Amino acid sequence: MEFSRALVIGAGQMGSGIAQVMAQSGLTVVIRDIKQEFVQKGINGIDKNLSRNVEKGKMTAEEKTAVMSRISGVVDLDEASCNVDLVVEAAIENMDIKREIFQTLDRLCPAHTILASNTSSLPITALGALTKRPDRFIGMHFFNPAPIMKLIEIITGMATSEETYNAVKALAEKLGKTPVKVSDAPGFAANRIMIPMINEAIYCLMEGVASAEDIDNCAKLGYAHPMGPLALSDLIGNDTVLYIMEVLYNGFGDPKYRPCPLLRKMVQAGYMGRKSGKGFFEYNK
Ligand SMILES: NC(=O)c1ccc[n+]([C@@H]2O[C@H](COP(=O)([O-])OP(=O)(O)OC[C@H]3O[C@@H](n4cnc5c(N)ncnc54)[C@H](O)[C@@H]3O)[C@@H](O)[C@H]2O)c1
Repeated sequence: MEFSRALVIGAGQMGSGIAQVMAQSGLTVVIRDIKQEFVQKGINGIDKNLSRNVEKGKMTAEEKTAVMSRISGVVDLDEASCNVDLVVEAAIENMDIKREIFQTLDRLCPAHTILASNTSSLPITALGALTKRPDRFIGMHFFNPAPIMKLIEIITGMATSEETYNAVKALAEKLGKTPVKVSDAPGFAANRIMIPMINEAIYCLMEGVASAEDIDNCAKLGYAHPMGPLALSDLIGNDTVLYIMEVLYNGFGDPKYRPCPLLRKMVQAGYMGRKSGKGFFEYNK
């Protein structure tokens, strides 16, 4: 199956990045968010990213104009905006919100449309079962920032068809990404490895084992990680990190996955990381 039109749900950091990647590969993309200002912020972010690419000589101004002409935004979902071959959902990590989104999409999208979720942790089998097309439901887990990171975890639910998997794998390759096939288990593979490491770094900070800078230096200088775990938590969003830890904790029923109390407190304080301007580090807005 060839994809030519896509709908991205959520114009936040992941949704806007995913829309950019798809438009750069020639797809026509509609972005949907709950408020016009959020849609516009997402589109402005893409414009800024592409302008930076033009300044660096990575693309021409004409190419940028062509990419931007393939992107539009909506707030109200209707049959026209849902007349697409693929939907990638990148709204906030909350089961109730995703349930409502997928039930609406299932009603409005044509029968052939594949529904994909960029969820970091929610079960693909359960999300697919909310729709009447679980065979055309799949996880398409991009990494942050989506235009740069090469990996896409493709998560097959219990009912996902081989045809859906093959079509999404081919699309991932067309987007210039490297897909890996992962079965539906809490945290999938990448986050099950990475998020508990971030959580442990937050425990180290809470217990006064080392300063935030030095904890990150351990990973950067000791293990050649490009970024420390606390800076990575700020990049992902501390609310998302907490949510994924909760999914691991509840999904496995194993106390080794309990979220660090300091992480919970940071989220309660609104210190979400880069997107709020403050997390384990400060960011200029
Ligand atoms: N941040 C990361 O590093 C990362 C990486 C991979 C996957 N993810 C996943 O991607 C998804 C989005 O994460 P994010 O970091 O972009 O979050 P974000 O907070 O930056 O953006 C979420 C957006 O969804 C919008 N939204 C909320 N309800 C909506 C609805 N009903 N319809 C349309 N839009 C709605 C919000 O207004 C917001 O603009 C989550 O499922 C997250 O787990 C995040």
